[in-house]
Amino acid sequence: MSSLDEQIAKAANILRNGGLVALPTETVYGLGANAEDPVAVRRVFEVKRRPPTHPLIIHLGNPDQLSGWADRIPGAAHVLAESFWAGPLTLVLRRSVRVPDETIGGGPTVALRVPDHPVTLAVLNDFGGGIAAPSANPFKGVSPTSADHVRAGLGDAVDFVLDGGPCTVGVESTIVQLVDDAPTILRPGGVTKEDLEAVLGSKIDVESDSAIRVPGQHPSHYAPHARVRLARPEHLINEAETAHACGRRVGVLVPPPLHDVPITASVVVLVPASTTEYARQLYGLLRRLDEQGCELIVASLPEPDGLGLAIANRLSRAAGPR
Ligand code: TXA
Ligand code: MG
Repeated sequence: MSSLDEQIAKAANILRNGGLVALPTETVYGLGANAEDPVAVRRVFEVKRRPPTHPLIIHLGNPDQLSGWADRIPGAAHVLAESFWAGPLTLVLRRSVRVPDETIGGGPTVALRVPDHPVTLAVLNDFGGGIAAPSANPFKGVSPTSADHVRAGLGDAVDFVLDGGPCTVGVESTIVQLVDDAPTILRPGGVTKEDLEAVLGSKIDVESDSAIRVPGQHPSHYAPHARVRLARPEHLINEAETAHACGRRVGVLVPPPLHDVPITASVVVLVPASTTEYARQLYGLLRRLDEQGCELIVASLPEPDGLGLAIANRLSRAAGPR
């Protein structure tokens, strides 16, 4: 295998030539293409089997590049960029003329972020432009948090997978819209609501799923092959054991207060007490339960504060109607 520097140069070259590169970020792996190359971007949608109306996030190498890609940027956006970039925060702003329709589904806004991963920052700085990158998984599936996950999901459809190790955050970026009214959270993620509020000095709302009209927010998303059923902690064990008694292969994600309770299920996973650690492991755990042949995963939602909000959001989506 070539050196990391050679791999970074190779990735930048492939992007320049219209190819697709899977890239590590601190949140999840992305499927990257030159954001200004409509042909390359169209291939991203094909490979993911994602409808072309669903806008992509454009990744930048440096917060200073923000003004090239967005117009009429409100002051709060600069404040958030200064505080959280490089990091797991995506800002939705009015698009500039630089952004091709294909990349953003033809809408009036663009989603931008500076990822916090040294390898991908090096690729961005060598490449020089913006990299459009959705999570590197088939549409509606579980996002990849390792290079192996990418290869398992997309295989040879990607020109190059740049392995930057396991993702440290493990859930996607927080998406904040700053277009007309007060900033709102469109998707909870790696930057917490509490941290955003501390920096903005005001409360920030989380859009309810039904209020979000932008394509790409589906009731069923982030879903493993197994069905996911949510239960209150006091019903979790009963729910899992009943399904198991009916002969189903059941996996159960057991929250810390129940770690010492004996449970009969096919696969029992004790989830970490720290939400930081739970977020980091969440997608890998869902994949492991699939690999172990579970037909049903029973889980409880963590308290919706800190990273618990993002974990609860992903588990709720995974349990959504298919
Ligand atoms: O952490 C992340 O954000 C990862 C890494 C690779 O950066 N990317 C990611 O991309 O999760 P994707 O495409 O899987 O999810 C992006 C979400 C979609 O739900 C899409 O609807 C939303 O961002 N989005 C993109 N552009 C938008 C826009 N202009 N307005 C509102 N939502 C937008
Ligand atoms: Mg995704």
